[in-house]
Amino acid sequence: MTAPSAPQLRARKRRNAKDAIVMVTAYDEPGGRLAGAAGVDMILVGDSVGNVVMGHETTMRVTVSDMEHHVRAVASARPNAHIVGDMPWLSYHVDRADTVRNAAAIIRAGAHSVKLEGGANRLEAVRAILDAEIPVVGHIGLTPQSVLAFGGFKVQAKTKSAAEQLLDEALALQAAGIFAVVIEGVPSEVGSMITRALDIPTIGIGAGPDTDGQVLVWHDLLGLGNRAPAKFVRQYVDLNAVISGALSQYVADVRGASFPAEHETYPTPATFHEA
Ligand code: KIV
Repeated sequence: MTAPSAPQLRARKRRNAKDAIVMVTAYDEPGGRLAGAAGVDMILVGDSVGNVVMGHETTMRVTVSDMEHHVRAVASARPNAHIVGDMPWLSYHVDRADTVRNAAAIIRAGAHSVKLEGGANRLEAVRAILDAEIPVVGHIGLTPQSVLAFGGFKVQAKTKSAAEQLLDEALALQAAGIFAVVIEGVPSEVGSMITRALDIPTIGIGAGPDTDGQVLVWHDLLGLGNRAPAKFVRQYVDLNAVISGALSQYVADVRGASFPAEHETYPTPATFHEA
């Protein structure tokens, strides 16, 4: 089995729930390996790495070289999943040549496509990257790189006119040639309306049940975050508790002299004490 290509995913407009595109974020080799083995279609090496791995408040401190580093780690797992590398803030708000150079760095690190945030204001960047033969995923709605401009992480498209504007942006991105679009933080009805209107697959996060696929952040899904998850998150396991328990046990075992045990040590060779 090989990772699905951009054209194969482009053709995966949902017919029914069984065909839904499954995407999850990952940031390192174990993440890529486990996500691939679980059968996800797409792994997003998201700039959410800035929040969940690097501990920053926003994604705006993430650089292209951070993204290259994490894409390289995920790609080293060679998962049977399409790897999308996020373009960080200010890597595509620059001139055409720098935009393409930054997208290429993420592809050379091992991604199969790149994702960038924004609508009509990013069409030039999308076209430049596509011109360099690099497939692009869009990202609209509550775009985290706009958090300072939005004045916080706020659900978007809450009025009819804002929803219609978002739809126009999605249609413009589709016309420019993106092969899929992430829709984040909008009312379910807006997720549904945009999904019905587009020919390309939509992948929702906090956009309701009707998008063509879903994406969740690794740390949210697995209970590894350092704050209460957002309303749209389904947490499948509490790894904070599992890992804390294991580490506390390790501390107790070392201090209680029960680790290492005999079977966890190298025996002294019989010849060791011979002169
Ligand atoms: O960076 C990221 O993880 C993302 C998802 C929230 C879609 O962009």
